[in-house]
Amino acid sequence: MNLISSQIKSLNGEVVCPGDKSISQRILILGSMLNCNTSIKGFLDAYDPNSTLSALNYMGASIVKTKTRVILNKRTQPYKKPEEDLDLGNSGTGMRLMLGLISGLGIRATLVGDSSLSKRPMLRVIKPLMDMGANIKSNEGKAPIKMIESNIANDFKYDMPIASAQVKSSLLLASLSSNKSIIITEPKITRNHTERMIEYFEGDIEYDSKNKKGFIRLGKTNLTPKETYEVVGDFSSASFMIVAALIAKESHLVIKNVGLNPTRSGLINILLLMGADIKIVNQTLVCNEESADLIVKSSDLHGIEVPEDIIPNIIDEIPILSIAAAFSKGTTIIKNASELRVKESDRLNAISEGLHKLNINHKMFEDGLLIKGNTGDVDIYEEINSFDDHRIAMSFLIAGIRSKNGVKVNNCKNIETSFPNFKDIMNSLGMKINEKN
Ligand code: S3P
Repeated sequence: MNLISSQIKSLNGEVVCPGDKSISQRILILGSMLNCNTSIKGFLDAYDPNSTLSALNYMGASIVKTKTRVILNKRTQPYKKPEEDLDLGNSGTGMRLMLGLISGLGIRATLVGDSSLSKRPMLRVIKPLMDMGANIKSNEGKAPIKMIESNIANDFKYDMPIASAQVKSSLLLASLSSNKSIIITEPKITRNHTERMIEYFEGDIEYDSKNKKGFIRLGKTNLTPKETYEVVGDFSSASFMIVAALIAKESHLVIKNVGLNPTRSGLINILLLMGADIKIVNQTLVCNEESADLIVKSSDLHGIEVPEDIIPNIIDEIPILSIAAAFSKGTTIIKNASELRVKESDRLNAISEGLHKLNINHKMFEDGLLIKGNTGDVDIYEEINSFDDHRIAMSFLIAGIRSKNGVKVNNCKNIETSFPNFKDIMNSLGMKINEKN
């Protein structure tokens, strides 16, 4: 599916942010471990969480979706070896977190994914999980991955070489599902939704997300079931709306229910440094996660050098940050972001190719980008390749706001992995995104 986004002047209105993908996936996994009847509000009904949901059901969970909620029913049986391969589709989070859960449960299973997921590095979780006592066979560190019975060690200590919330969460889930303790240190603070959720369910966990390096201690622990859980809005989805409102000329946008966990919402700090007019109101805590409403108005942005320590906290927002930088005055420099090369696509390369088509002066480094912004509108005729990556597709569709001939992005189907209503929501606010052959 190809989409074309035509130039518009302003973005206006009020919108409720769709549910958080990372939290939706975690509540399915942790919630089904609680083994009671739990009703989830705000779940993101998109391909990625849904592939995790199916995988859990193949293992004996009883999770059903109604129109408004997801219900985790009490299991009538222990988790079991699935009869089918567990297909995690496009989701790196789904695969890495399920590897942790299954290692801890010690059951046999085979995990597979789509062509993008089958190229992504899995040794970063397989290696520490095997050091913990899991028994895993892979295709040279990639999917398909076969899990054999395991025996997870107590008091495992792991000093993470890369800053990855998926790796951290996988190890925490392996320990939690085998009822073992673990201590993890991370080189930089990464998103802490798993820790917060364990804390919310009263597990024995300590974590420090204030210093530059992360420290997490999980004790042998049981979680306390709760009847309901509410998923806050997805900051990553909100970031497309935020940048759209900033770069359009006469916008006034209210985005309600945006998850603002500081380990996730670093883009706000960066955009504020770039001169953005963003106000945070109605702050509250929902199931141990910060949430608030945002008021965003058109702004004259200027380029900045992005502080390197914040990179893990804006990792998924760098494609849309690059679009903000493309329409800012001066130069933006993003370094220390080589993890972008192993996401759903090589995102540094995908951003660079798209910026090239937009005629935006830039340089690509091995670990980042330097973007010289253009404060005027662009005028392009070439099509942009999404590389089958949802965040690349949405970012360049937002760039259409400032393109005299609009922007056509090829292969946008993948948007459904994280933000299925993207086109309708953005159009309801004033964008003009249409299907185009
Ligand atoms: C995620 C963590 C990040 C992020 C991904 C979701 C998570 O990946 O890019 O979209 O839910 O834990 P890494 O932890 O591998 O950087």
